Amino acid sequence: MIQNILTRSFPAGAGLLLAACATVPSGMASSDAPAIAPVLDRPDAVDNQTFARPLEARVSHVDLDLDLDFARQTVAGTAMLDIVAKPGVDTVILDDDGLDITAITDAAGRPLAYTVGQTVEGKGAPLTIRMGAAREITVRYSAKDADAMQWLTPEQTEGGEHPFLFSQGQATLNRTWIPTQDSPGIRQTWSARITAPEELTVVMSGLSQGEPETVEGNRRAFRFAMDKPVAPYLIAIAAGNIVRRDLGPRTGVWAEPETIDAAARETADTERMVDAAERLYGPYRWGRYDMIVLPPAFPYGGMENPVMTFLTPTFIAGDKSLNGLVAHELAHSWSGNLVTNAVWGDGWLNEGVTSYFENRIQEELYGKKRAEQEAALAFANIEETLAEVGADAPGTALHQQSDGGDLVGSAIAYDKGSYFLRTVESIVGRERFDAWLRQWFDNHAFQPATSAMLLEDMQRNLVRNPAEAERLMLREWIYEPGLPSNVARPDPAAFATVDAAVRAYAGNGAIPAGYDGWTSAERQRFLDNIPKDRSAAQLAALDDALGLSDTGNNEELFLWLELALANRYEPAVSQAEQFLARVGRAKFVRPLFAVLMGEGEWGQPIARRIYAETRDSYHAVTRAGVDRVIGTDG
Ligand code: BES
Ligand code: ZN
Repeated sequence: MIQNILTRSFPAGAGLLLAACATVPSGMASSDAPAIAPVLDRPDAVDNQTFARPLEARVSHVDLDLDLDFARQTVAGTAMLDIVAKPGVDTVILDDDGLDITAITDAAGRPLAYTVGQTVEGKGAPLTIRMGAAREITVRYSAKDADAMQWLTPEQTEGGEHPFLFSQGQATLNRTWIPTQDSPGIRQTWSARITAPEELTVVMSGLSQGEPETVEGNRRAFRFAMDKPVAPYLIAIAAGNIVRRDLGPRTGVWAEPETIDAAARETADTERMVDAAERLYGPYRWGRYDMIVLPPAFPYGGMENPVMTFLTPTFIAGDKSLNGLVAHELAHSWSGNLVTNAVWGDGWLNEGVTSYFENRIQEELYGKKRAEQEAALAFANIEETLAEVGADAPGTALHQQSDGGDLVGSAIAYDKGSYFLRTVESIVGRERFDAWLRQWFDNHAFQPATSAMLLEDMQRNLVRNPAEAERLMLREWIYEPGLPSNVARPDPAAFATVDAAVRAYAGNGAIPAGYDGWTSAERQRFLDNIPKDRSAAQLAALDDALGLSDTGNNEELFLWLELALANRYEPAVSQAEQFLARVGRAKFVRPLFAVLMGEGEWGQPIARRIYAETRDSYHAVTRAGVDRVIGTDG
């Protein structure tokens, strides 16, 4: 199974560059966001996945005015950009991946000259604008077939009557629908006016600005604003036949009417999670925390879009057993959205810190047992990955040189990242560790960060003496492959019962009687650890006794299908087919196709037959992943 008290003031001068017109927010109050965010001026913060040169000229605000055209699967309109530039700079470079640009003008409507350079695969092309002295520029454009966007047919929704749209920006996809500088270290405030057919409701990762207004063509216009500077991958949109349910004073969930009850039940603990997160690491600085449960085509489990987390419906199990997903996306409101990796090669700063934080929220709400079991699953994930790729594989270091593209699976950034913090916590003690993490968030709020900055910060604000430094092995954790020897291993008692049941089953085929009463983590542990080589009779017996193919828990269903297909178990094929036709979550879809492709003349024709049917129903992210597995180039 492959699955992140010191009251120093603003660290001015620590490699931060502020434009002449931006004021230095010295002694910034903890919940304040600067209107214009600083960018880092240090070599380890240079993002090679953007064409922008933010130290010369950068975007500080994006104002979108866009129409959603479902028939043409196109967004069209304008993006007005505010630019902050060094004196004398007359050119600004944006990221553009396939935009159809019709004009670029200054504030007075005068045309500005621009060129679109050569396209680089996966990066798009530089859009170079000769802005002269202009510092407000308007790009008129449209985006068709943008990779960030998935336009769903009514059949792909629960209601079956209306189309649906959602975007997925991380990591570098927003340049396919927004002409801006698409780099996580270049924070921007933004605002938007979006029109859509009147039967659809639009949500975005910014606060809604009043009721929608009816406009011509049986359409409605929705307004949004994000007044805190955010990394541009966090701008997101969804539109469909959706309704909202309040969960608490500042929390709520959106979904299709057919899904809203189940969605609200599964997310019922969200307000308590926000409270717990605040007690742990400081104020929630974004105002509301809403979520939207999307149709199952959504390619991820969740995405931490500010004030509007996007969620897959596949986490709905009926018993909140998979709501660690909500804790995870919520935790990103600190690690990721507040303090952001400046470059994707330091993605563990977002995902690893978040995975640690997620586990702490789970412990607060549900207790040590559940938290420790989930941590033990994460540890098994690290071990599995290291066994697969080797403990000296460069991709197993937390810090990655370039874009993080060599990082192996989620086990490193997420699980090794969270075990790093867990290990530090176990050495310095929870009280000191929590105080350190809280000040890290406070002192870097609304700013980008790098691995080296975190290391320096730990050395300055956490480590007490050389002996402690030696025990912590900080540098090794961040820069070396494999797992350092001081790792704080999970409590072996966490899964003692299940591991005994696995041994019994492996020994004499005894199917555990208590399975029904187990936690989901326990059931996942069992399914992931029993012998992989099973006969059809053994699989039938397991399914019969444990009701595996009837489970409403998609993590467990996935493990069952994986096991069954790996053993060429015919009765599982039609169920796998139905699952793959409905669900687009890459974490499930890619491995299932990979298992089939690994089953030679039995599995490969099945994989190809299913993929021919389902490929068009997947988001570009999922499609790209499965294309690599199947060996099609389109
Ligand atoms: N930010 C990620 C999703 C992501 C990562 C999108 C990298 C694009 C590139 C999100 O917070 C996440 O980690 N989702 C996980 C949730 C899980 C770890 C609880 C997922 O989608 O499975
Ligand atoms: Zn995450």
